[in-house]
Amino acid sequence: MDKFRIRGGMPLSGELPVSGSKNAALPALAASLLTAEPVILRRVPQVRDIATMLKLLEYNGAEVERRADGSVRIEARRIVNPEAPYDIVKTMRASSLVLGPLAARAGRARVSVPGGCSIGARPINLHINGLEHLGAVVHQEHGYIEAVAERGLRGNTVHFERITVTGTEDLMMAAALAEGLTVLENAAREPEVVDLAVLLRKMGARIGGEGTSRIEIEGVKQLHGAEHEIIPDRIEAGTLLIAGVMTNSPVTVTGCVPEHLQALLVKLRQAGARVEESATAVRTEPVARLRSVDMTTEEHPGFATDLQAQFMALMTTAAGISFITENIFENRFMHVPELARMGANIRIEGRQAIVAGPSELTGAPVMCSDLRASASLVLAALVARGESVLDRVYHMDRGYERIEEKLRAAGASIERIE
Ligand code: EPU
Repeated sequence: MDKFRIRGGMPLSGELPVSGSKNAALPALAASLLTAEPVILRRVPQVRDIATMLKLLEYNGAEVERRADGSVRIEARRIVNPEAPYDIVKTMRASSLVLGPLAARAGRARVSVPGGCSIGARPINLHINGLEHLGAVVHQEHGYIEAVAERGLRGNTVHFERITVTGTEDLMMAAALAEGLTVLENAAREPEVVDLAVLLRKMGARIGGEGTSRIEIEGVKQLHGAEHEIIPDRIEAGTLLIAGVMTNSPVTVTGCVPEHLQALLVKLRQAGARVEESATAVRTEPVARLRSVDMTTEEHPGFATDLQAQFMALMTTAAGISFITENIFENRFMHVPELARMGANIRIEGRQAIVAGPSELTGAPVMCSDLRASASLVLAALVARGESVLDRVYHMDRGYERIEEKLRAAGASIERIE
């Protein structure tokens, strides 16, 4: 199992380039199951979750070609196995994204029920409920959800009980091939949802309202092939920007969409950071000191839960008390005990973490528990005095492309130990 060895206290400088978005690429890949023609996706990050999704598409019967330039070509002429098996779903919950496309294209989908994971229960009841509204007959047996729609899906109004990102995406894909009009109410407004709508439109789908909480989809009989470039990863961009702010370094995060980062930028400015946006980059400059600010995670355009752990790492170095409230997942504080091992002063009360800073962090051996928790430990290690060794870096590899190379190129002392 790989580890990261990080020696803290090295200033960063220069550029930190952003890769394509993992969470936009995953639904885009699933969407390729909706057509028999080739779909070509550019700027697909080379991370483990993407490799897992490609494996799943191959299992479903698609031909997958990964190209050296970072693009992927998928051709799903026929659906052979309309199923997401346990072995794949257990390593990546986003596998449930194939439920809608398979039910719509093959009339049948069988997906292993995702169990709990380190950040919470991760149920898919809202995906299932939505598909039932589109006429699928769904039942659960032997740990699998089976959705059957022999004569195809029919459009309907689906009101999501709570906002779900992949649930919205799953239903958008199913509705694209359903007969008649589907209206998704209380839909997610994340940039990744918008990116999927853009791709589906290129494939011939009739879809509108993405980016608002009401999405309308008029089903079509068939979709066709398309080419599409995945949007930049806003969570990676935010993580790299926090790395710059936390190490108090002049760095520019390049190839991103600053508009997608507004909730973070507001908080960083409130904390006293100097951040400047241009069209496709955000620059940060050193400041005398940071002050604590409170933060609450919300659905987009609120503060992303996927940046909560990284922001908490930052707050351990700011002066004062910060109340951090996690509203999206019930158990997303696994990084807290590890940050505490590095000297952070954090107390958890229910959905709230109370961070008292500034703490002088010191290097320590720590354990990564999930993707974003790992990112917060990397950030803490970059400023901690002395050496940290991060175990179970495979969590990080699920979603960050060549993170250690990017940070090292900007001056960090970080190496992967195999
Ligand atoms: N929920 C339900 N029932 C459902 C679906 C969701 O109760 O059927 C609940 C969840 O338990 C959670 C809340 O609704 O409490 C929101 O979950 P959502 O469905 O929006 O999460 P997701 O679609 O499974 C995506 C991202 C996550 C990100 C969340 C929230 C992908 C592949 N994953 O997950 O990304 O945290 O939205 O923004 O897009 C990550 O990249 O580290 C990551 C976990």
